[in-house]
Amino acid sequence: MIQHPPIVVRQQISLKPYHTFGMEVKARDFAELSHEQELPAMLKLISQYQGPVLLMGGGSNMLFTKDFEGLVVKISTRGIEIVEEDEDFVYVRGMAGENWDDFVQFCVSRNLGGLENLSLIPGNVGSSPIQNIGAYGVEIRDSFYMLDAISLRTGEFREFFAGECDFGYRHSIFKGELKGKYLILSVTFRLKRNPVLNTSYGAIASELEANGETPSVKSVAAAVCRIRRSKLPDPEETGNAGSFFKNPVIGEQQFLELKQQYPAIASYPADGGVKLAAGWLIEQCGWKGFREGDAGVHDKQALVLVNYGNATGTRIYSLALKIIESVKEKFGVQLEPEVNIY
Ligand code: EPU
Repeated sequence: MIQHPPIVVRQQISLKPYHTFGMEVKARDFAELSHEQELPAMLKLISQYQGPVLLMGGGSNMLFTKDFEGLVVKISTRGIEIVEEDEDFVYVRGMAGENWDDFVQFCVSRNLGGLENLSLIPGNVGSSPIQNIGAYGVEIRDSFYMLDAISLRTGEFREFFAGECDFGYRHSIFKGELKGKYLILSVTFRLKRNPVLNTSYGAIASELEANGETPSVKSVAAAVCRIRRSKLPDPEETGNAGSFFKNPVIGEQQFLELKQQYPAIASYPADGGVKLAAGWLIEQCGWKGFREGDAGVHDKQALVLVNYGNATGTRIYSLALKIIESVKEKFGVQLEPEVNIY
């Protein structure tokens, strides 16, 4: 009989080091999954636990407004491997707890294309499909091949291929009907040996030109890193969870009316209407660079709320509500948080 290592459950653990917003909150119980061999014991713990269970990856998309009165399971399994290759594609698998940018740079350093625009996004590989992370005109669904997951209820393994994930803008089935039902173990991406590079979004092309570089997997990744560093706060220095709100999608008619009143409104075509840049809307309402105590709105990107040190989650949340209200009042557009609020 195989001996499974016991899982250590610790009480009243500070979550400050485990999430990028950096609030001083505690988990009633805390356990870590570091090796796949610990899975049976972890599943048993989860199924027998009395109270809510929160699976945690890189903690880069979470706002805690209070202590978590339940069990936090930190997913820390590591490993990256090339699982298959053919003439055109290389299939690379990352374990769920692997840092997202380490995974991207593993691919970039081998000139494998598909994820270079997604360089430097905070978070882990296992969380990346949950909200179909995206940046600079690319989303993970463009290179996603499949993922391995395990049902928290039945303990059954299941493979999910791209068509089964219901990917949309910052959305997947794991945020929808299967929310909280599966633990993602690993994700496999299909990278291209000869990628068509996407330099059309925002500042990538001009950033390459300014550096006298031609587009390649490596130069695009480096350009994206420079752009992100210049615009987005480093969570190591200033607590934040990236974009706090989603970019709202509105109907064509409403858009035409807004465009007439605000000709400079930033927008993109989207499924089912027009997507507006929430950062632009928030800036127009005068919030960019706003600070009240340690809660604020980033001065270079109004879509990002920041914790300058000791802001509580409720402080950040009440700032978010005020922003939602003022955007609604000025533009008649409803913003929705993109981060998960606990
Ligand atoms: N804008 C402003 N003022 C601001 C911020 C933005 O006018 O304060 C305008 C910009 O000038 C631009 C437009 O809004 O015309 C879009 O801005 P940006 O390119 O910075 O992107 P975004 O739409 O604000 C999205 C993602 C980011 C991702 C960037 C780049 C969402 C919710 N956010 O932001 O993702 O890095 O595009 O592709 O879709 C994240 O999800 O955490 C995240 C950082």
